[in-house]
Amino acid sequence: MQLDINFVRQQFPALAQSSESKIAFLENAGGSCLCTQTTEILNSYYNHHRVQPYHATPISQDAGNAMNAGYTALATYLNVDENDLYFGPSTSQNTYVLANALWGYLQEGDEIIVTNQDHEANSGSWRRLKNRGVIVREWQVDSETGSLSLEKLHNLLSEKTKLVAFPHCSNILGEINPVVKICSMAHQVGAKAIVDGVSFAGHGLPDVKDLGADIYLFSLYKVYGPHLGVMVISQQMAGLLESQGHYFNSAEREKRLMPAGPDHAQIAAIKGVSNYFDAVFEHHYGVDGAVNDKAAIIRSLFHEAERIPLDRLLAYLNQHPKVTIVGPKTSHNRAPTISFLPQGQSPHALVRSVGDLGAMGAAGHFYSPRLLTALGINPDSGVARYSLVHYNSLADVDLLIDALEQCL
Ligand SMILES: Cc1ncc(COP(=O)(O)O)c(C=O)c1O
Repeated sequence: MQLDINFVRQQFPALAQSSESKIAFLENAGGSCLCTQTTEILNSYYNHHRVQPYHATPISQDAGNAMNAGYTALATYLNVDENDLYFGPSTSQNTYVLANALWGYLQEGDEIIVTNQDHEANSGSWRRLKNRGVIVREWQVDSETGSLSLEKLHNLLSEKTKLVAFPHCSNILGEINPVVKICSMAHQVGAKAIVDGVSFAGHGLPDVKDLGADIYLFSLYKVYGPHLGVMVISQQMAGLLESQGHYFNSAEREKRLMPAGPDHAQIAAIKGVSNYFDAVFEHHYGVDGAVNDKAAIIRSLFHEAERIPLDRLLAYLNQHPKVTIVGPKTSHNRAPTISFLPQGQSPHALVRSVGDLGAMGAAGHFYSPRLLTALGINPDSGVARYSLVHYNSLADVDLLIDALEQCL
């Protein structure tokens, strides 16, 4: 089964505009377009439910039900219990809150492992625990490839390790890490695993139960949804975390790790993301099709659709004498987030001139300066990055290749 890209693109109003004006949107690792299913629920909630939810009036009850539907839909797609879901304004904000909550679990002298491959959101909050007497060990990438080796992790783990934080997928390299294996290595020494799935989730929501992470993080604004950070926290792990909410709310599960309180409309709009996935599924397989593992089927539909433009772009970049790809050179085991260094000009200058020709990417360190430094790349000049998702067509990639051909 091949993804019907025309059907998919019709679900994203921003893409209709960009097709008309010959613009290729290739900065999805920064934030994806919103599907109509998400904006419909946002509009409907803002227009009809502008009251506090969960009170005794009918509109308030409706508002609460709309929010509950968001929880249920997302939990189903992630294969977790909806009581494992927590939300905050972003993943960076969520790790900040979690680092404080972890103080119920960590003690002075405990060791934690962080990487220098991560976005700073899954690094800085944990590193700051050093100020409270926690010993921070760095799992360092290979300085040539940027990859994380299991052997190095093995050498860092001990019975003192309480936490291992690492990325599912790097937002620069696009390389996908073996999450199941790493979580199991952490668990073998009694440590907990925190996985940053932000760069992975937009390519198809993972089966979080299968991965074995104690905490799995991602951001819905990169998954066609509202600007919310998601925390999937196992019940066992949640029991080790200190409440960060008001003292009188500490028994209310969903308020314990959400001190700010969510935007209610955004929680309701999560259902829009699952409605979009449902629509894709029904369009390709019919309503009576195999629904047992809808998330897995959609994931492989998306991955397969992404691979074709990814292969074309990698083939172009690999043969170009003025390009050095930063990250894996083939589509094996990687997301279509492609970074590179251009020769003879800065990444910023290249991205600007390519953007003038309609292919929208970005340049910089993308909040992963530690990784660039480890690779010998100056974070201030950074890399050029073009990141695709399933709705990017071959025409998008051809537009980019034509523009690169003129500008490199
Ligand atoms: C891999 C990765 N982790 C974490 C984050 C932070 O997410 P948020 O913007 O929701 O704080 C980002 C954002 O770009 C990211 O790419």
